[in-house]
Amino acid sequence: MKALLAAGGRSTRMRPITHTINKQLIPLANRPMLEYPIRKLVEAGITDILININPGERDVMRAVFGDGERYGATLTYIEQEGGARGIAHAVANAEPHLRGGPFVFFLGDNIMVGSIRKLRERYEMEGFDCLIGLSRVKDPNRYGVAEFNPDGTLKRAVEKPTDPPSPFAITGIYFFNDKFFDGFKTMQPSARGEYEITDMITWYIENGRVGHEEITGWWKDTGTPDALLEGNALMLDEMRVEEMVNRGTIAEGSVIQGKVRIEEGTIIDENVLIRGPVVIGSGCRISDAYVGPYTSIGDGVELHNTEIEHSIVMERATIQSGKRIVDSIIGRHASITSNQETLPRGHKLIIGDHASVEL
Ligand code: DAU
Repeated sequence: MKALLAAGGRSTRMRPITHTINKQLIPLANRPMLEYPIRKLVEAGITDILININPGERDVMRAVFGDGERYGATLTYIEQEGGARGIAHAVANAEPHLRGGPFVFFLGDNIMVGSIRKLRERYEMEGFDCLIGLSRVKDPNRYGVAEFNPDGTLKRAVEKPTDPPSPFAITGIYFFNDKFFDGFKTMQPSARGEYEITDMITWYIENGRVGHEEITGWWKDTGTPDALLEGNALMLDEMRVEEMVNRGTIAEGSVIQGKVRIEEGTIIDENVLIRGPVVIGSGCRISDAYVGPYTSIGDGVELHNTEIEHSIVMERATIQSGKRIVDSIIGRHASITSNQETLPRGHKLIIGDHASVEL
């Protein structure tokens, strides 16, 4: 079975970070987000993986994930013609690679705990045309939602309904056969101008056999800043004991507690408390600081005179704030300094387009 991973899109909800970086490259526990679905697929025995990307992003994506050898997979990059025209369009765009057999379509911003093996086995053994993964959520209006008939079978799929017909979000893990491409020929873009995957699922319900399986383990669409921080926390929680290594230098008197990984060349100077789960990249310098649970710090970060917790700090950012920073996402090369020393007093901000700051 082949897989198609969606790694294009505009990601407007993650601006300004996504002005300069593809959402699927944002790090969770210091690994690019897309690496997690790649590993899930390989774990389920699916190694022929196509990756749908935005036009012009082939080099940058290939530089990060390569040809897949390090994951035990073969990665083929496919540019989505015309750009982000909807996720059903991303599938239709890959038709020449997917015709002739069943495939799994996985959204690159979906993070889950547990295996997709069971879904694969059910899809293959029960001869469905399509199988969808469902997850019970508190805010179904943010997702594609499953509507059921009184006998429990699927009636249709609705995209982000204001009045959700059930609490079951349709997760971004779909199994399809190649009837998809016949169905797609009948599709029209929705009111928001996208070819919706929910319309394709409704087409399958009306024209074939569709199964559904509840995903009871943790599942998250990391499409918003809060969800991204939750995904980061989850991936830090998942860190295995053998990954908790310290390759840096730690000054006497500084304290490391819990699950912490520190890469080579990082210097933890005096008066530092790091309380895991935390990952710190290579070549960082940290002094007079508290780094609290669920924080990921990228390569080359300078962190001084600051407390930080439940946050993502991307590579080469500098933070010297004299403050406590929580629930934050700090972009690459960003700089946060204290306003104590220069006049006039006050917050001095250079904030990029679509940034969000809580003072
Ligand atoms: O996460 C589950 C939800 O994903 C489903 O419940 C919805 O039915 C489905 O439409 C989708 O909703 P989102 O609003 O979260 O989709 P988003 O635009 O964020 O795109 C999902 C992924 O697909 C993301 O990794 C970016 C990628 N993408 C998106 C579009 C629109 C593409 O590769 N190409 C595209 O054209």
